[in-house]
Amino acid sequence: MNTGLSDTQLAAFRRDGYLVIEDFIPAEVMAALRQRALELVAEFDPREAVSVFTTDRERRVSDRYFLESGDKIRFFFEEQAFLPDGTLCREKALCINKIGHALHDRDVLFSQFSRQPALREICRSLGYRCPLLAQSMYIFKQPHIGGEVSCHQDATFLFTEPPSVTGFWFALEPATPENGCLWALPGGHRLPLKSRFVRTPAGETRFIELDREPLPADGLIPLPVPAGALILLHGNLPHYSKPNLSPRSRHAYTLHVIEGEFPYPADNWLQRPANNPFQGFDDR
Ligand code: FE2
Repeated sequence: MNTGLSDTQLAAFRRDGYLVIEDFIPAEVMAALRQRALELVAEFDPREAVSVFTTDRERRVSDRYFLESGDKIRFFFEEQAFLPDGTLCREKALCINKIGHALHDRDVLFSQFSRQPALREICRSLGYRCPLLAQSMYIFKQPHIGGEVSCHQDATFLFTEPPSVTGFWFALEPATPENGCLWALPGGHRLPLKSRFVRTPAGETRFIELDREPLPADGLIPLPVPAGALILLHGNLPHYSKPNLSPRSRHAYTLHVIEGEFPYPADNWLQRPANNPFQGFDDR
């Protein structure tokens, strides 16, 4: 497993813009990661933040809790987690949409998992010279209220010049069409990057349009995977997931790697303090 991608896998990734690798995570490692995520949620005091993750562009504006999460472990609620009076609709652990965005640096277990040699070798296969671990998320996709993630390209949110981000999407539970598996457009990584998500000097966020043609609405296919699978996603590949209306959660961990030799713009939404920059696989 520590030899990187085979020629066949690399050819498939270059052709499709994604690659499914089943049986990547041993069952006991998945169990430990799920357990750790639940412990982190148990330790979290919801009064710290009322940040709701939403695909609605306006709602994310001026959300400092979100903007300052680049080097922290922070918690974001499902949009439908709140009753009209502002209280949670059910127990906290079933209301969290995701944890972000530096689990890979701030938590020992997630750091070890994210820095495993097999991932470093995949990055080498993909041509990274100086891969940096830029962002991680633990996504719960809660039963019944797990929100949709609208169609996007990851390079919109993690832009380098030129674009270099690759997404590592780890299924910690089975991902099915019923509970909100990924959908992706085969070959769609050849499309130009459509937009960038930036922060303004006033501390707000907005999208900058780079290409007038919208992302295609047709041709995306579901990528159901068993627990333990890793899906590699090219940074320009259009992908999304539907809401989870099923009674089963769909936990996933995601890690995003960028090329450290390429400039990382100062107006990218995700920033790290000068004394805690992005790090590589061997930096901890
Ligand atoms: Fe994504």
